[in-house]
Amino acid sequence: MGRLVQLTDLHLGDTSQEWLRGCPVFANFLRVWQAALAVAPDWIVITGDVSDRGGRGSYELLHSVIDRAPVPVFVMYGNHDRGQCWQLPPVLWLGGWRLLCLNSTPGVVPLTEVRSLLQSHPGAPTLLALHHHPMAIAEPGLLWLNQLRLENGTELMALAAEFPQVRGLVFGHTHRRFDACLGHYQLLGTPAAGLPEWQGRCGFRVLDLGADGTLQTEVLGV
Ligand SMILES: [Fe+2]
Repeated sequence: MGRLVQLTDLHLGDTSQEWLRGCPVFANFLRVWQAALAVAPDWIVITGDVSDRGGRGSYELLHSVIDRAPVPVFVMYGNHDRGQCWQLPPVLWLGGWRLLCLNSTPGVVPLTEVRSLLQSHPGAPTLLALHHHPMAIAEPGLLWLNQLRLENGTELMALAAEFPQVRGLVFGHTHRRFDACLGHYQLLGTPAAGLPEWQGRCGFRVLDLGADGTLQTEVLGV
């Protein structure tokens, strides 16, 4: 059993005082960060949009916080991030679970590579993490989000459906919460840590990775 916490979409500016869309994004991130540490995670993954404009100062702000973390922190790219600020291996082992970190910033993920990663360890319960949402959204007020969707999202979800060890597909990007069960895996969107765009709140996701391969998850608002 292990506990993974997902944070996403910090949208930090270049200084700790910078506000974005009327919000103190760094202060919001710090509140979410403290709440995330309070649930005693074993690992933390940040699924992109650390920065709003890709400025160096935003990454220095991130490191001023995560470099003191008591647990490993994995940082992925989002569409707002710029440059080669870090390297992350595509596959991480979290106890007996695998976390596949898929770079979706080109607008697509490499399906052949994902297939071969899934074929290599069919017995290990697996999470796929990426920045972009893979599914179309039918909610009338949110149809505009479909223009920002992963271009080969339908194919990625079909691929995940072929491999029973996949337990979850987790993402950010929409700044809102989504939860759906698609057969043997869950489709899980997580609210932004920097901008309160989910029911007026920021948030993060807790993912409990069971030794028996079961996934329990909840979103906590901050
Ligand atoms: Fe974002």
